[in-house]
Amino acid sequence: MQYPVTSLGTSLIFKNVNFSWPSQERIINNCSFSIHEPGLFMILGKNGCGKSTLFKLIQRIILPTEGKIEGPIDVSTVFQNPDHQILMPTCASELILNVKDNPNKKLMQKRIDSVLEVVGLKGFKLRPVQTLSGGQKQRLAIASALISNSSFILMDEPTALLDQTSQIEILKLVKSLTIRKERPITILWITHRMDELSHAYKIGTMKNGKLSEWFPPTNFKYN
Ligand SMILES: Nc1ncnc2c1ncn2[C@@H]1O[C@H](COP(=O)(O)OP(=O)(O)O)[C@@H](O)[C@H]1O
Ligand SMILES: [Mg+2]
Repeated sequence: MQYPVTSLGTSLIFKNVNFSWPSQERIINNCSFSIHEPGLFMILGKNGCGKSTLFKLIQRIILPTEGKIEGPIDVSTVFQNPDHQILMPTCASELILNVKDNPNKKLMQKRIDSVLEVVGLKGFKLRPVQTLSGGQKQRLAIASALISNSSFILMDEPTALLDQTSQIEILKLVKSLTIRKERPITILWITHRMDELSHAYKIGTMKNGKLSEWFPPTNFKYN
């Protein structure tokens, strides 16, 4: 049998993917789509339609029952609630936990300073995590994804618990990462907040186990 998940740079390709949770109807049903470029890709869909299941497939936490997924190996995830994700007591120790190679001490400090600056948490290295606001915790979760060197980040309703000011700040930060000159990344963002869609590069809707084609926000209509 051919292993249904293969690695392919930073592109992501789903080919006729099926998946069912045990004793349930098929939640991902003949789903095909692809992403071949950096950008902020948003996925919209009703509760329970299979969006988080789709992310688990991309992360290889579960495997398709049929079909094929070709995609990046170095995927990181940012969840709705940073408290479910952050494990360590300080910003620096949390970041160190997410470093995948083994840099020397000087390089490690340089990387920590650099990602904290990118996410707007300059000088927060020794800050205890419990003193951060919700928005700052979400920035730390994004910094953790960046320090792991992922070029593909999955975000599952990352602003659902934030107030509107933090929501806009996180959206702007995330978008800037996808359009920066050096190493722009791909972000796949699940939302059910219609007001976020105008920030997207492309939008897809999930319905009946399938993801639609990608639309730019200007051509997007939800029905
Ligand atoms: N670990 C699991 N075990 C069994 N069923 C699950 C599991 N995770 C999700 N499901 C089911 O799959 C369906 C889709 O869930 P999910 O992918 O979380 O939807 P969404 O993220 O779009 O709200 C739901 O009916 C849910 O109960
Ligand atoms: Mg979900």
